[in-house]
Amino acid sequence: MIRLENVTVSYGSRVILDAIDLEIPTGKTMVILGESGSGKTTILKCVLGTLHPVSGRVLANGQDISRLSDEELLRFRQRMGMVFQEGALFDSLTVGENVAFWLWEHTQLSDAEVETRVRTLLRFVGLESSIDSKPSDLSGGMRRRVAIARAMAAEDPAFMLYDEPTTGLDPFTSKSICDLMRRVQREFTTTNIVVTHDLTDAYRVGDLFTFIKDAKVIATGSRQEIERSTDPFIKTFLSLES
Ligand SMILES: Nc1ncnc2c1ncn2[C@@H]1O[C@H](COP(=O)(O)OP(=O)(O)O)[C@@H](O)[C@H]1O
Ligand SMILES: [Mg+2]
Repeated sequence: MIRLENVTVSYGSRVILDAIDLEIPTGKTMVILGESGSGKTTILKCVLGTLHPVSGRVLANGQDISRLSDEELLRFRQRMGMVFQEGALFDSLTVGENVAFWLWEHTQLSDAEVETRVRTLLRFVGLESSIDSKPSDLSGGMRRRVAIARAMAAEDPAFMLYDEPTTGLDPFTSKSICDLMRRVQREFTTTNIVVTHDLTDAYRVGDLFTFIKDAKVIATGSRQEIERSTDPFIKTFLSLES
């Protein structure tokens, strides 16, 4: 479970998130929708623990992540995968090295064990044959798959965060990435947060949906619940996309 309680983030006098509450049950996917600049990536940074709210707290499986010891934080991070906007791969490394990098940095695995793990991950995302390619040789969809494999590098991923994972992809490729995200969720019972602008993709991957506007959560719940919302912004958003 991931829970944000009363989380407030501000830059200077500008409030980016204003007392946000969110709860994502274990094994579920929460989709966060909102305009550019509404604070979606900021929410992910709070969950990653790279940004500390000025007030409120972020709980992962009941533990306040700002109160973890360094060792506990490390262990928590090891079970959390982040797929950054645009994938953010290292262009000078091969696909295999991109996935291995995390394992070299965070584990004591031998080279042979790393190789086995990298192959398993790349097989899972359908890219084992691209292990020696450079990211620049891959399509946009393949690069996202590598980013997902890298985010899953931990032996037992528990939390996955995706920042606009399908932006810039064609509809077929977007669907295949959504299918992959669902497969990760099912296979590992991960608890997931997905930021997206795309309502079709949101419905494909989401169990729960949250709209952010003017630094606040204006609606959260199941698809049926948000579709019943009378909020004008949400009604416009849902009608524009359908
Ligand atoms: N390091 C920062 N310093 C100042 N303002 C920032 C910083 N990071 C983000 N912001 C501002 O916070 C707001 C929310 O950013 P972000 O969470 O990236 O939005 P989104 O992902 O919804 O597009 C934006 O207006 C952005 O300009
Ligand atoms: Mg963003």
